[in-house]
Amino acid sequence: MNSEPRAVVLGEHCAMAQAQPNIALIKYWGKRDAALNLPVVGSISITLDALWTRTRVSFEPGLEQDRVSLNGRSDAAEAKRVSACLDLLRQRAGVNWRAAVDSRNNFPTAAGLASSASGFAALIHAGDSALGLNLDDAEKSVLARRCSGSAARSIFGGYVEWAHGKLADGTDSVASPLLEAAAWPLRVAVAITSTAAKEVGSSEGMRRTAQTSPFQSAWIDSQEADLNAARSAILARDFAALAAISEYSCLKMHALALAAQPGLLYWNGASVECMRRVRALRGQGVPVFFTVDAGPQVKAVCEPQAIEQVKSALREIPGVLDVVETGLGAGSRKLTEAEFVSRDAPTSSGGSDADRSGIDSASPVAGHSASPAPTLTRHRGEAE
Ligand code: DP6
Repeated sequence: MNSEPRAVVLGEHCAMAQAQPNIALIKYWGKRDAALNLPVVGSISITLDALWTRTRVSFEPGLEQDRVSLNGRSDAAEAKRVSACLDLLRQRAGVNWRAAVDSRNNFPTAAGLASSASGFAALIHAGDSALGLNLDDAEKSVLARRCSGSAARSIFGGYVEWAHGKLADGTDSVASPLLEAAAWPLRVAVAITSTAAKEVGSSEGMRRTAQTSPFQSAWIDSQEADLNAARSAILARDFAALAAISEYSCLKMHALALAAQPGLLYWNGASVECMRRVRALRGQGVPVFFTVDAGPQVKAVCEPQAIEQVKSALREIPGVLDVVETGLGAGSRKLTEAEFVSRDAPTSSGGSDADRSGIDSASPVAGHSASPAPTLTRHRGEAE
């Protein structure tokens, strides 16, 4: 690690990266060490492809403080988290340069769509490249985990497991791939039922749950069996088994959080109706199951041939604002300047994951009439 002063040309320490959100099938909820962001349980997720965060990090020795733009705006609380994350990279590189960060999502932030997972995975990936650290994926996963737990999983694509780990310093609490996306290309329909930011964030929700929910120890004790069942189902491509264990883990996490004081109720009425509709479809033989994170959106995971039927069924539900379709995608990756700049283009220029999945990269929400991004603005503020 060389912290010797050296001549720096503006832009020399600049890089861009993309990461996609992931959805946990076996949930992470609870921390054994809040400072190092170590989980009380392991978890298993799928990384998506059509939704993304694209981030540019430019370390500029002349800057007095980090400058952070998220979706074109500055937000003091988020900027603080970004700076803390950059500190981890600066520490590794032995530099104290401040950075300009420009990051954008093509989906609503903080609405239960894991924007912190893709956001911090993209930030670590871009920051690593900008500083020339050349960290391997496992090291990136450990750093991303420090910034937001679920970000550890977005470094990898497809089916991913994040180990609980045993070491006090957390170096073994790292994600790793279980199965490539192409090996079992399930589809996901995300029913957007609100674009308002959630009232209680995950970190606070986990803290409250650990302190007050009487079910915390049962949650921890039963997780290993759930992880084993999900891992086996994924490796065997056994949809029925994955459906059963995933819905079980989701409902168990929400039961745990509902029993906190005050109880954490992340769903709205439309969320519940979506879950009921997914179960009804499965009862009719449609290969689909639901999962819901710390927010009101319902993710319906299905076999590819069922996606159109699942999307139509979800769109009919009152309170469903839009339905986003996505497949499973790759882990975080470096972007060229041209790819990064194309994120703002009004029409897709080809080659992005969104394009491959049939969703315009500038129109993340494929709604009732393939509605463009402004749909989200129109509905913003319509809380549960
Ligand atoms: C319900 O990763 O957002 O989505 O580590 O505090 O940043 P922090 O929490 P975060 O929590 C995600 C919780 C979850 C379940 C999951 O993704 O496994």
